[in-house]
Amino acid sequence: MKSIPKNVSLRVLTAEDLNLLDDVELIERQSQKNPWNAQSCRECFDEPYLMVGLFVAEKLQGFSVIYNTAYSTDLLTIGISPVWQGYGLGARLLKKTLQEALNCRANECFLEVRVSNERAQKLYEKYGFAKTGIRKGYYRGENGNPPEDAITMHLADITKTLLGTTD
Ligand SMILES: CC(C)(COP(=O)(O)OP(=O)(O)OC[C@H]1O[C@@H](n2cnc3c(N)ncnc32)[C@H](O)[C@@H]1OP(=O)(O)O)[C@@H](O)C(=O)NCCC(=O)NCCS
Repeated sequence: MKSIPKNVSLRVLTAEDLNLLDDVELIERQSQKNPWNAQSCRECFDEPYLMVGLFVAEKLQGFSVIYNTAYSTDLLTIGISPVWQGYGLGARLLKKTLQEALNCRANECFLEVRVSNERAQKLYEKYGFAKTGIRKGYYRGENGNPPEDAITMHLADITKTLLGTTD
């Protein structure tokens, strides 16, 4: 892996950060196969969603969105700008996101990931997620892409994952 840049910061994004909406949309378009539209990105700055931003030299280069329920959270999306992928930033963002879920008393996490997305699956497995099933045709065919199945994954104990990792 390329060495992690030093000037990285992470924080929760709120409605006061709506000036970052264009950056969020750009990262979304560049990193996801079926990107969310502007309205969906806009909604994530407000409850019930919780959005975490990752900055390199104070420029937004990644973000994640979770949806917390009573004691669990759903990781709805996570993405890093293509130029910054492979530097350990996805791992940093995932850990910060799990910490924010835990701060809201959610100690387990659920997610879906494309069967073809081995990179993301490796990331999740590294932090304790287990594969639990398949959702047939979960991802609609859009932008010329055929429909694709999702693998469902589950992290049973966020606290344990965070205790087992540094920074
Ligand atoms: C998935 C994603 C968030 C990972 O972020 P990243 O910054 O590239 O990943 P990191 O550099 O932090 O690597 C973390 C781990 O991911 C896995 N990984 C990263 N790059 C990989 C690659 N090219 N092949 C396989 N595994 C890889 C490894 O397990 C790695 O840990 P290691 O380096 O200790 O082996 C990022 O690649 C991304 O935005 N992808 C497009 C959007 C996406 O797929 N989001 C997930 C949707 S469910």
